[in-house]
Amino acid sequence: MCGIVGFIGNNCEQNLIDALYKLEYRGYDSAGISVIKDGKIDTIKTAGEIKNLDEMLTTRNSNTAGIAHTRWATHGASNVFNAHPHNSCNNKISIVHNGIIENYIELKQDLIKKGVVFYSETDSEVIPNLIYKSNNKSFIKKFISACNLLNGSYAIACLNSTEKKLYLAKNKSPLYISKLNTGEMMCASDIICFESKAVDYYTLEDGEFAVISKDNIRFYNSSFKIIKKQSSKLGKFDFSFELGNFSHYMEKEICEIPKCIDNLARIYSSKNLTEILINLNINSFNKIKIIGCGTAYHASCMGEKLLQDVLKVDVSSFVASEFRYSKQLIDNSTLCIFVSQSGETADTLEALKLAIELGATTLVITNTMHSTMAKLAHVVLPTCAGVEKSVASTKAYVCQICVFYILKRCFDSQINKKCFDFYENLENLSVLLKNQKYDYLDSFVKLLSDENELYFIGRDKDLISSNEACLKLKEVTYINANAYPAGELKHGFLALINQSSYMFVIATEHHLLEKTLNALKEASSRGANIILVTQFKNEASSMCENVKFIYLPCFDEDLMSIVSIIPFQFLSYKLSVSKNINPDKPRNLAKSVTVE
Ligand code: F6R
Repeated sequence: MCGIVGFIGNNCEQNLIDALYKLEYRGYDSAGISVIKDGKIDTIKTAGEIKNLDEMLTTRNSNTAGIAHTRWATHGASNVFNAHPHNSCNNKISIVHNGIIENYIELKQDLIKKGVVFYSETDSEVIPNLIYKSNNKSFIKKFISACNLLNGSYAIACLNSTEKKLYLAKNKSPLYISKLNTGEMMCASDIICFESKAVDYYTLEDGEFAVISKDNIRFYNSSFKIIKKQSSKLGKFDFSFELGNFSHYMEKEICEIPKCIDNLARIYSSKNLTEILINLNINSFNKIKIIGCGTAYHASCMGEKLLQDVLKVDVSSFVASEFRYSKQLIDNSTLCIFVSQSGETADTLEALKLAIELGATTLVITNTMHSTMAKLAHVVLPTCAGVEKSVASTKAYVCQICVFYILKRCFDSQINKKCFDFYENLENLSVLLKNQKYDYLDSFVKLLSDENELYFIGRDKDLISSNEACLKLKEVTYINANAYPAGELKHGFLALINQSSYMFVIATEHHLLEKTLNALKEASSRGANIILVTQFKNEASSMCENVKFIYLPCFDEDLMSIVSIIPFQFLSYKLSVSKNINPDKPRNLAKSVTVE
């Protein structure tokens, strides 16, 4: 993970810090900056968030070259020694790195034999020292030949004390370059750093290198040959990066959900996307596999339920890290759908490459149209949620489900020769959600704020929503919340229940209501304090006693999982704030998981 940025031009330190804040979603364990000052490398770094580094900066307006880093720790604790940039032991070369160097131990042992002294526990510190110890004459050759020795994943930006230049390398981790409208040069892990500053940008591909000077960008391949590259236009960013009147991005992003659904419905009604969908002929596939991680995996499970409803071929969902390492029966009649907000998650990306290798047709549902996954897949469907900054995914999850809903309607129209229409339902959902109020959750915050454990049960789509609700609670409140299939209660987990247990029961599918309420009663009679979440107010209240309710508005059952998850997104947010946790930056996590 980690975010890296490089800059050449005026106000170098300030530009680097501003860009780092935009990359903070990639990790916030430590931060650091190196700039060239009077022919020397000047490095400042600190443990903790970027604001700590910001407070330490005394100079912000140098006209120079610099690099900066925000870290999500992989090798070595999150302290100042392991913070990037890392410098060569002669202090003349400085690098920032995003990724993992898998062969760093043998490289490090070799360098130690050559007299190199190491100051950190990181894998990254071998990089500046490999460059330093390279026998090549020119710096570009030293840089490329050192990078050619690395196994693993990397986006690297490098400075040397004698030139106002940036040297870049890339393998598996993203890296972009842009000449800004002001004429200055910038490279970064994410194009959001170029937002409102540039019209186009270059994407460095695996095995490519670049040298950026004050007014020139030169690209190389691994054999030191100069190569030509085309730039891409920087699209519009739909949603503002500013917090506005909100206290946290998580709150802002949940509140944006109705607008996102509205936006998505409009975009999918355009000729362009309708054509893409219609060309995806469902009759040419004999099985469908859906793959994602974390929340995106829960959206994949929801996709499985929605699609299996109309399809006669087998649909199954997988956690990407498991998919990669289990035997998969995939051929050219398989459709593999990958779900990823960032489009960069390492396990999902590797699973996508595997599916391509095995001959499957691949479809990516992503929020990041310039991502590596979007570039590799045969078909790309956008989630149109706008930038999601908070680590916990909320609006992107909802939009992923909406895309599966549209896919379901599309396949249904192909199979049953019906009209393909989804717009009205999504529009109505957006209006319904706009009018919902969630103040009632404050009483649940009071009730649950001292709990260390919460239980959830549900069936079918409600079980998936339960799992997603638990993930949100764990991430931002650190409460150990766990979901079980309602029918599994008596097969073991009932032993955990006593009179101080709180259990949420989600029941939004009418044909399963009675069965789920039976499970509720089994838990209730063992003393569990039940909170029933349902739209079937009359039936449920007559069948249940001593139960608290969260009543949901009624809507199309296919989309009820969206109606039922939002209260839990808000509840997690409110509980997090009540515990003085920053919900946007929960401990040990980062938004974009670009390491396996
Ligand atoms: C949870 C969350 C993560 C991500 C997961 C996959 O709130 O955000 O579980 O869903 O890391 O990330 P993407 O969707 O970027 O592949």
